[in-house]
Amino acid sequence: MNELTSEPMNRSLLGPILSVSGVAKTFVLHLREGARLPVVNGAGFELFAGECVALGGPSGAGKSSLLKMVYGNYRVDAGAILVRDGAETVDVARTSPRRLIRLREDTMGYVSQFLRVIPRVGALDVVAEPLIGDGVPCEEATARAGELLARLNLPERLWSLPPATFSGGEQQRVNIARGLIAHRPLLLMDEPTASLDAANRQVVVGLIEEKKRAGVAILGIFHDTEVREAVCDRVIDVTDFAQAA
Ligand SMILES: Nc1ncnc2c1ncn2[C@@H]1O[C@H](COP(=O)(O)OP(=O)(O)OP(=O)(O)O)[C@@H](O)[C@H]1O
Ligand SMILES: [Mg+2]
Repeated sequence: MNELTSEPMNRSLLGPILSVSGVAKTFVLHLREGARLPVVNGAGFELFAGECVALGGPSGAGKSSLLKMVYGNYRVDAGAILVRDGAETVDVARTSPRRLIRLREDTMGYVSQFLRVIPRVGALDVVAEPLIGDGVPCEEATARAGELLARLNLPERLWSLPPATFSGGEQQRVNIARGLIAHRPLLLMDEPTASLDAANRQVVVGLIEEKKRAGVAILGIFHDTEVREAVCDRVIDVTDFAQAA
C-alpha cells in the first residue's frame, strides 16, 4: 500500500487523538523510607484515529503504569498527555478532576484488566450502563448489551446475575462488553484477553477490528501474541522510556 491509500484521511487532517511527550514518573514509596522507583522518563508517542497500538516490554517495564497515566489514574511528574476532545485538547497531566471525568464520559474509555464488580447489579445492567449514561433509552441499551454478551458467548442464564461469582473469563467478557458498548474515540485496554479461551479471543479480535474501522484509536497491552499480531498496527517498547529515569 502506498502512503495515500494506507493512511486514514483523518490522520492527516486532524492530527493525533493522543499525544504523549516528555512524560516521566517515579514512584516514591513512603512506607519504604521514601525509596524511589523510576518507571518512565521521556516517554513520547502519538496515536491516530483507526489504529491500534500495543505497549510492549517485559513484566515490570511500566506498561500498565503508562496506561494509567494516560487515563489519569496515576499522576505524572513531568510531561504532557494531550487528548483531542472534539474541538478542544485536554492535557490529562494538568487538567482538573472535573474535566477529566467529562473527558472519560465523552472521549476516553478504559477496559481494565479486571472487572470492578458492583454489588447486586446484574451483568446485563453492568454492560448497559455506559450507554444509558450516554442518553440511550434503557430498553435499547439493554437490548444492545444482550447482543454483545451473546456475541461473547456469555450464557443467557447469567445475564441477570451479579458478576461477583462469575469465573475469571466470564467476568472478563462482561468487562470487555461494558468497555466496548459505548462509542469512545480513544480506548485504553489492559490485557483484555488474558483469561479468555481461543474462541472468545477471536470474538474480541473481531470487536477490536470493528472499533478500528469506526475510527477508534486503541492503546493497549496485549500479552497474547496471536491477538497482538491480529489487531495491532505497531508496538511501542516501554523499555525505551525506562533507562534514563
Ligand atoms: N502504585 C504503585 N506504587 C509503587 N510502585 C508501583 C505502583 N504501580 C506500579 N509500580 C511499580 O512500577 C513498575 C512497573 O509496573 P507496571 O505494573 O506498570 O508494569 P507492567 O509493565 O504493566 O508489568 P506486567 O507485564 O507484569 O503487567 C513495577 O516495578 C511496579 O512494582
Ligand atoms: Mg501490567
